[in-house]
Amino acid sequence: MRPKISIIGAGFVGSTAAHWIASKELGDVVLVDIIEGMPQGKGLDLLQAGPIEGFDVKITGTNDYAETANSDIIIITSGAPRKPGMSREDLIRVNADITRECVAKAAPLSPNAVIIMVNNPLDTMTYLAKQVSGFPKNRVVGQAGVLDTARYRTFIAMEVGVSVEDVQAMLMGGHGDEMVPLPRFTTISGIPVTEFISKERLDAIVDRTRKGGGEIVNLLKTGSAYYAPSAATVQMVEAILRDKKRLLPCSCYLEGEYGLNDIYFGVPCILGAGGVERVLELPLNEEEMALVKKSAEAVSASIATLKQL
Ligand code: 2OP
Repeated sequence: MRPKISIIGAGFVGSTAAHWIASKELGDVVLVDIIEGMPQGKGLDLLQAGPIEGFDVKITGTNDYAETANSDIIIITSGAPRKPGMSREDLIRVNADITRECVAKAAPLSPNAVIIMVNNPLDTMTYLAKQVSGFPKNRVVGQAGVLDTARYRTFIAMEVGVSVEDVQAMLMGGHGDEMVPLPRFTTISGIPVTEFISKERLDAIVDRTRKGGGEIVNLLKTGSAYYAPSAATVQMVEAILRDKKRLLPCSCYLEGEYGLNDIYFGVPCILGAGGVERVLELPLNEEEMALVKKSAEAVSASIATLKQL
């Protein structure tokens, strides 16, 4: 039997994730949305690309959560995107209501699934999904670091004029402007990035990475990024379904790691069949630790706001 992946929210991120999943033949896809006809139409359209692209998976579009039963993975993308001038935090009220409803409907039907959260404010919505689902911490994870490092790697590759494939990087922190790209853990084919880029230029790249989501929002004007966010999500899906034990930055529930407790926060982790199988604690220096702390304070404040809603 093929794995089953349910995507809640068939907007740009959800439907593009379905596209990447189908093209990689990772499993059967159920695309859910509250708008009548929309997930059905997108699902059928994508299915009809199968004979051309040569993928052989089942794709169902529906308004009925019953069709998601017994999923291996549930991806939650539902929620409002940012508009120019908005921060991810501005979405907390509207997206908390949507997240509560989606998780409450989907989780009981797939009690063994791994939930991957994609909506914003990311770390806070992942915290909420864990609360509402009652799933263990290893089976609720947030997508942010894969996207943020992809942006960081792209900018480095552009700067140096090398293939993006050869840029490896790690990044920590909440999915907000306080995120913490880590130049000390960034290499080009194993060579420290500082051998290629001056401190001044690297600082500018770190700054552009932090504001990477906003840069796209300002260009699009009517929504936020979706190609890279959905590709990042699908990399996590693949790591889990194929038990790849990928070492990726993801938003994970922390209980003491990095001195942080009761928070979802971007950290390096091992993703495999069990979801988040291990959180890695990097030997951060004082400066890096201070940045991590600042980012954690921003995420904690957001979680505190959530608790008061
Ligand atoms: C981004 O960074 C939408 O938060 C997402 O583009």
